[in-house]
Amino acid sequence: VKGFRAAIVWAAMASAAFVTAAPGEAHKPITSPFTFSEHVKPIVEAQCGGCHAPGGVAPMSLLTHADAVPWSESIRAEVLSGHMPPWPVDTAPARFRNAQVLTAREMDVLLTWVAGGTPPGAAPDLRAAGPESAGSSTQWPLGAPDLVLPLPREHTLAAGIQEEMVEFVVATGTRETRWVRAVDVQPGTPAIVRAATVAIRDPAASRPGVAAPEPVLALWLPGEEPVRLDGSTAFLLPASAELVVRIQYRKTWEYERQEVRDRSVVGVYFNSAPGPELRALPLEGASTDAAAVRFSRTIEADVTALAIYPDAGLDGLHVTVSAARPDGSREELIAFRPRRDWARRYWFAEPVQLPRGTRITVDARPDGTLLPPGALPQPAPTAPAAIRLTLNLIGT
Ligand code: HEC
Repeated sequence: VKGFRAAIVWAAMASAAFVTAAPGEAHKPITSPFTFSEHVKPIVEAQCGGCHAPGGVAPMSLLTHADAVPWSESIRAEVLSGHMPPWPVDTAPARFRNAQVLTAREMDVLLTWVAGGTPPGAAPDLRAAGPESAGSSTQWPLGAPDLVLPLPREHTLAAGIQEEMVEFVVATGTRETRWVRAVDVQPGTPAIVRAATVAIRDPAASRPGVAAPEPVLALWLPGEEPVRLDGSTAFLLPASAELVVRIQYRKTWEYERQEVRDRSVVGVYFNSAPGPELRALPLEGASTDAAAVRFSRTIEADVTALAIYPDAGLDGLHVTVSAARPDGSREELIAFRPRRDWARRYWFAEPVQLPRGTRITVDARPDGTLLPPGALPQPAPTAPAAIRLTLNLIGT
């Protein structure tokens, strides 16, 4: 459904319009019927608190009235532009299992509260100490993993380093083929672990000079509950395999010029019985002209797609992936604006049948829309030379 976000934004703005005040006005009259303690707090706890909590990955907490008020104009800009929460997808959220979006009602409450004088409400300004608080997320949302793998060493982000990508290789110690149902990451120091990728490296599968592909088990982002595969579907983990864990470290300004250490832990969940293997089908293509990358790939056997994800680093583009089946039916798999900092796997709510002969078309072009003033570097005016996405599917 094209324009889903735009429709929500317009609906929310229309109903917030009656309380619009001049930007930058120092003392806005309180016109908002929504208050922080009654209406805003439950929303920020549920939708923002996974990151915007003390010690969390975001640079500031939004969990109390005092925390949130200085950021109110910025909150308005970020939610209107679709930057926060970070779910840069145009396709309707109901199509995905792991959508992280504000409902029209939540958006309305936030915008009306900002425009209408940010009233605190009655309840005392206490900080929630619940599981929403990122600083205290010491448990695994899926329960205790079958295999708990601490990274082999602690990493120190030196005082002078603000940001760093670090690769760790972790032995799994498994002696036979295993079936992986889910993988999660528990950051040691949540304030600096910005993103993590866990992939399989199978030394036995590489030939001299030809590295085997490294299937991605998890694209982890803070505050996101990992998806557990249904039934017996699983990733195959060969006996000899290691896990390659790449962590994107970044300091929030609180930690600038301080030395910060991290030792994160990877949790692996197994299935006991072998099941349909979740495989990776790369979709890659090169620029057809300066303005777009457009290519198609025909599916050679009946398959079912469960998820799609962009290559790390795709940024500043609007990407549409669609399927045209042999029976003439067409479906948009996803339309989105991949962001380098927020690369994630998009899990379809319903498995997508792609019969043999289905043509998958990828169209990517520079994204010039929804840029809040000064918030992002301008996108490149031309398309990149080539792009790659990956479909996760089952079937032969
Ligand atoms: C998955 C983690 C995550 C979630 C969920 C999230 N944020 Fe953020 N937010 C961040 C990070 C990290 C930053 C720092 C900027 C960046 O790196 O993109 C940020 C930055 C911001 C900023 C500041 C932008 C600036 O001016 O510097 C605002 C305002 C904001 N978020 C509001 C929200 C609101 C409101 C929600 C919930 C509706 C939310 N965020 C949900 C991670 C998150």
